[in-house]
Amino acid sequence: MSKFWSPFVKNLVPYVPGEQPKLSKLVKLNTNENPYGPSPRAIAAMQAELNDSLRLYPDPNGERLKQAIADYYGVQSSQVFVGNGSDEVLAHIFHGLFQHGRPLLFPDVTYSFYPVYCGLYGIPFETVALDERFRIRVEDYARPNGGIIFPNPNAPTGCLLPLEAIERLLEANPDSVVVVDEAYVDFGGETAITLVDRHANLLVTQTLSKSRSLAGLRVGLAVGHPELIEALERIKNSFNSYPLDRMAIVGAAAAFEDRAYFEQTCRQVIASREQLVGELQRLGFEVLPSAANFVFARHPGRDAEGLAAGLREQGVIVRHFKQERIRQFLRITIGAPEQNQALIDALAGLC
Ligand SMILES: Cc1ncc(COP(=O)(O)O)c(C=O)c1O
Repeated sequence: MSKFWSPFVKNLVPYVPGEQPKLSKLVKLNTNENPYGPSPRAIAAMQAELNDSLRLYPDPNGERLKQAIADYYGVQSSQVFVGNGSDEVLAHIFHGLFQHGRPLLFPDVTYSFYPVYCGLYGIPFETVALDERFRIRVEDYARPNGGIIFPNPNAPTGCLLPLEAIERLLEANPDSVVVVDEAYVDFGGETAITLVDRHANLLVTQTLSKSRSLAGLRVGLAVGHPELIEALERIKNSFNSYPLDRMAIVGAAAAFEDRAYFEQTCRQVIASREQLVGELQRLGFEVLPSAANFVFARHPGRDAEGLAAGLREQGVIVRHFKQERIRQFLRITIGAPEQNQALIDALAGLC
């Protein structure tokens, strides 16, 4: 705290990202990164871009990338917004599409950045409790609201909401923007982008940090009605005209164009997840059904915080949240097979 801080800064409660440890020997299963590298085509495209053109600003609209995303999903590029990670895209959405008198709704257990954005932009919100099996029940969102947002699959639970339920929610809330945050959808969900032409109030966000293994590049996107996209462009052009650098534009576009590599690595992560779920269950864990690149698990006889500390002593890091309803759970990222094995070996000594 300093006397130079504005009252606004004094009152902020910032998001705390998962630890990025300096020790490279750790088995890092705490921030849902992809154990497989990015597409070789993405790397090659970025290497080719590493030249004298870096003296020039990038395309402020990232058209090359927007077109690659539009082609991938069969939409128009006017329906696509791109930004510096989906966190930035989400920030613009909160700023531009949720600032209304009524509360924003999101689940009680969800991505913990949402309340932080509400604090940053002064947006009132109410949380809606997940059901007893940690699932979103769309009927519970039938109350006055200034917008709705949830990840699908949800984070940190991994539970998936079917598209048919999302469509019911959109129809019940025609005057609110409904944002489906699909950070993890490629690991077992179906994208709601197929619904954007029918629902002008739907905005879908995605990231290249997880299924496309480019967390270090910082690229995220939103797809929706051109008028929703225009609101985001207005915010972006009032904040930072060039959120994506030259490397990010070509690397992300090439990642979208390399469908075969993407599909193969997603399949590998899904297969590892199914194997890991079986092994955790054999150790006595209850594991929520996951459609993501992580699992959310609790052990009836072991304290989760103690387990996380015990794992850490053995060089394995997972994520533990202190929120009351989920404090007995661990969120475990699906790693490469040898990382998952190291986790199971370490847990076997603790359970
Ligand atoms: C649900 C959810 N949304 C969005 C993000 C942000 O992703 P990024 O900013 O890396 O694109 C994350 C990251 O963990 C997430 O879990």
